[in-house]
Amino acid sequence: MPRIYLETYGCQMNAADSDLMLGVLGREGYVRTEDPAEADVLLVNTCAVRDHAEQRVLGRMGELKRHKRPGNVLGVVGCMAQRLGPKLLDRVPQVDLVIGPDGYRALPELIAQARAGERTADVQFRSWEHYEDLPPAPSPGMGASPGYSAFVTVQRGCDYKCTFCIVPMTRGPERSRRLEDVVHEVTRLADHGTTEVTLLGQTVNAYHDGTHDFADLLRAVGAVPGVRRVRFTSPYPTDFTDRVLAAMAETRTVCEHVHLPVQSGSSRVLRRMLRRYTRERYLAVVEALRAAVPGIALTTDIIVGFPGETEADFEETVSLVEQVDFDDAYTFKYSIREGTPAVRLADHVPDAMAGERLERLIAVVRAGARRRNLALVGSTHEVLVEGRARRGGWLQTRTRTNKVALVDGPDEWIGSYRRLRFTGTTGSTFTAWPVEQEALVSW
Ligand code: 5AD
Repeated sequence: MPRIYLETYGCQMNAADSDLMLGVLGREGYVRTEDPAEADVLLVNTCAVRDHAEQRVLGRMGELKRHKRPGNVLGVVGCMAQRLGPKLLDRVPQVDLVIGPDGYRALPELIAQARAGERTADVQFRSWEHYEDLPPAPSPGMGASPGYSAFVTVQRGCDYKCTFCIVPMTRGPERSRRLEDVVHEVTRLADHGTTEVTLLGQTVNAYHDGTHDFADLLRAVGAVPGVRRVRFTSPYPTDFTDRVLAAMAETRTVCEHVHLPVQSGSSRVLRRMLRRYTRERYLAVVEALRAAVPGIALTTDIIVGFPGETEADFEETVSLVEQVDFDDAYTFKYSIREGTPAVRLADHVPDAMAGERLERLIAVVRAGARRRNLALVGSTHEVLVEGRARRGGWLQTRTRTNKVALVDGPDEWIGSYRRLRFTGTTGSTFTAWPVEQEALVSW
């Protein structure tokens, strides 16, 4: 049986795409290996959102090419493959295959061609492609994680034109799957034991299949028998319509967490980013979410050092972070992406200055998260037990609000829901104690 080694970088949609590729190859008789040295086909699923992500992949290709034996196939797939296309074949001579996010259906044929000595780059956009008849079945031998939690892509591509962002160029135009198709996939997952689904799209709450909007989708997925938790990522701030807010509030399975990328707290910078909101509008969305879903946890993405960002602009970002009081934030130094409109903006922020702002911002984010999390020590939560934590032999669990808590417990708990009391926090994650057990002890 041929063996596939697959490494995934970047966002959750890439993780979902990797499952899809494993499904395609599983049906061709491939088995997965964790050891590149024993693989027949080596694939790296890549991210292009920042230069750092691409440099990591190039470094990794340098290592992986050593494992390539005659007759083997080394492929780069995903967003960096789409962005660089045939240039990647020139840049890394050991690479045989370059495939963009719309080309995975032909993976078996492209691998066969590569075996026959033909080096190919397939970076065509196929705006009809939803891989509808290719359910990402975690096949036996693929080493897929137990399927109690699953990603479901509901929208591919992006039509928003944020000036910093490469995604419209790597994932093509936006299109939504039909609601019936999504519900069908979720029903099939639930029949196989999945209880938590995360709906994926670049601007997921702008989902529209021509008939149904995101509110319809949330209600429909949330009502599938067996589904206990619905999450989604990433929404766009101004696409939380009243209908979507009502669906979130009224669908019990929809979790109390939203990842709401703000990018900057300065309206001036937001305008240059071509974000479709001001600082005030973003704050109004936060209020609307908190009113609709009491106790909702909010996380965000922030870019510092966007061209033209002044110290005053940056301070507005800091003050927005303090004002919203996010549960957590991913913070990034602006990375110039060839082909994006921001390349043409003047006033580039010196790297050292951007680095210094990033450090200050991280300190503010950490302090806020720590304060919020300390206040949660002593509270009880329903968690899904996800698996063994990497260190210490504890179980890793997650609340509906997306907080991670570690607890001592047996393997049998994996995949089940438990009630835990938080007993301590590192500032970001928690230690916890099962509530039933605690009741017994205090007896
Ligand atoms: N530079 C830095 N960060 C970026 N992101 C997207 N493009 C860039 C870029 N050119 C960040 C945004 C986005 C997250 C996925 O990555 O914050 O929300």
